[in-house]
Amino acid sequence: KILILDFGSQFTQLIARRVRELNIYCEIHPFNKVPVIDESVQGIILSGSPYSVRQEDAPHFDFVKHHTTLPILGVCYGAQYIAHFHGGEVLASSTREYGRANLDYIKEGNPLFKDVLKGSQVWMSHGDTIARIADNFEIIASTDSVEVAAYQITGTQTYAIQFHPEVTHSTDGKQLLQNFLVDICGCSQDWTPDSFIETTIAELKAKLGDDKVVLGLSGGVDSSVAAVLLHQAIGANLHCIFVDNGLLRKDEYQSVLDSYQHMGLNIKGIDAKQRFYDALAGLTDPEKKRKAIGRVFIEVFDDAAHEVQGVSWLGQGTIYPDVIESVSVKGPSATIKSHHNVGGLPDFMKLKVVEPLNTLFKDEVRRVGAALGIDPNILGRHPFPGPGLAIRILGDITPEKVDILQQADAIYINNLRSAGVYDKVWQAGAIYLPVQSVGVMGDERTYENVICLRAVESLDGMTADWCHLPYSLLAKISNEIINNVKGINRVVYDISSKPPATIEWE
Ligand code: XMP
Repeated sequence: KILILDFGSQFTQLIARRVRELNIYCEIHPFNKVPVIDESVQGIILSGSPYSVRQEDAPHFDFVKHHTTLPILGVCYGAQYIAHFHGGEVLASSTREYGRANLDYIKEGNPLFKDVLKGSQVWMSHGDTIARIADNFEIIASTDSVEVAAYQITGTQTYAIQFHPEVTHSTDGKQLLQNFLVDICGCSQDWTPDSFIETTIAELKAKLGDDKVVLGLSGGVDSSVAAVLLHQAIGANLHCIFVDNGLLRKDEYQSVLDSYQHMGLNIKGIDAKQRFYDALAGLTDPEKKRKAIGRVFIEVFDDAAHEVQGVSWLGQGTIYPDVIESVSVKGPSATIKSHHNVGGLPDFMKLKVVEPLNTLFKDEVRRVGAALGIDPNILGRHPFPGPGLAIRILGDITPEKVDILQQADAIYINNLRSAGVYDKVWQAGAIYLPVQSVGVMGDERTYENVICLRAVESLDGMTADWCHLPYSLLAKISNEIINNVKGINRVVYDISSKPPATIEWE
C-alpha cells in the first residue's frame, strides 16, 4: 500500500482517488500522526499544503528517517519542504504561479517521466518557488518560468514535483503517478472491488466469528452495501433495523423494505412515525429539529437493538471521507450544520463498532455494491439527509405538510427519472416553503403555499452548482404539482450554488 501524508491541501483526497483509480490501495494520514511504517508500505506521497515552508508554524515531518528506505514523492508543498530543509532554498515567487504550464525540459530516461513527452501540460498552484536545490539534488523537469518543476535526490528513490499530477489539467498526471507507483514503488494494480469484497468478507468472518451485529439501514447506498457485506460474512447473525421516521419520501419505506427483504437480509421494520412527529411538534429551529430527530432515532434504535439477544457489535456504513475529515490537519472546521455520521450513536449502547466501508470513497462503495449485485435503484439513489423531509419543510413539521411535500417531491423525482436526467443530477428534492402567496384557480382566488425545486451537480456535496434543467421539464413539473397537490399554487426553482448557499435549505 501507499501512504499519503496530508499537510492540509484541498487536493489530498484527490491524490488518493487517483491512486485508487489505478487499482492500488492507499491511505491518507495527517503528517503529525504517521502510523507505524511496516513492510506493507511500498511508498510515501507528501501532499500539498496551504502553508508556506517559510512560516514559523509550517508542518514538519521526519523525512530523513524514510528517504533512504522507501520511495517518496513530494508534491507541491511536499517538494518545497524537502528542498528547503535539505540544503536548498524556497522563496516567495514574485508572481503567484497558478494555472497551466508546459514542461519544456524533461531529463531523458528518468523513470518518473516514462512516456511523458516534452511539452506536456501541467497544473501549477503555488505562491512559493524553489529557488535553489542542494548539490546532490538533480532537476528532472522544468517549465519556462519554474526551473525546478521536478527533481530527484541523486542515487535515491526520492522524487518531488512542484505541479499537481492529481488534477486533470495535468494531462500526463496519471501516467506520472503510475510510473511512481508501479515502476518505482513496485505496487501491483490488483486492488479491485472483487478483491476488496473477498478480503473484507474474510476479515469480517475472522473478526466477528459467531457474534451478532445490529445495523441501522437507511435506504441509502452506504448502509445497504455495508449490510450486504456483513450478511455475506455472517448471515443471519446480522440483524438489520429500518426505522420509518415519517420523514422519508413517498412510499419509500415500503419499497426499500421490500427490496431489502428480496436481498435476503434479516431485517426488522419499525413504524415510529408518531414518535418523531410528537418530538418535532412546534419546533422551528433547524438544529433543534435535527437534535430531536437524532434523539428519537437513538431511542427507537436502542429499543429495537435490545430485542436482539446477546448482540455485541454495531455495524455502520461510515465511509472514508467521514473518517479523514475527522482527523483533518486543519482541525475540526466550524460547525455549519450538525451532520452526524461519525460517532453518531451514544456510548450507552456499549457496542463495539464494525465499519466495513471505512476505507472506501463513495464511488468505490457504488462499485463494490454493483459487484455484490445490489439493486441499481438503491446504488444510484441521490443522497438523502438523515433528518429527511424535516429539513426540507421550513419551520415546524406537521404530518399534513409532510404529506404535501411527499406528493410534490414524488412528481418531481418521477419526472426527472422519466426524462432520463435523474442519474445526471447529484441530488434533487423539493422544499416546502412557509410562505403563502395569492393565486387564481378557475374563478377562485387561492392563498396557498410555495414549493421550491432544488437540483444540484456535485462530486462530494462539499461544493455544488445548481443544475440547468430544461425549461420544458420544469414547466411540466410545475404544472403537475400545481394541478395535483392540494395546498400548493406556486412552484419556484432554486438557482443558488454552494457556496455561498448550501444544498439543503436548513
Ligand atoms: P448541505 O446542506 O450542508 O448538504 O450543503 C451537504 C450534503 O449533506 C446532506 N445533509 C445531511 N445529511 N444529516 C445528514 O445525514 C444532516 O443533518 C444533513 N444536512 C445536510 C445534504 O443532503 C447534502 O447531501
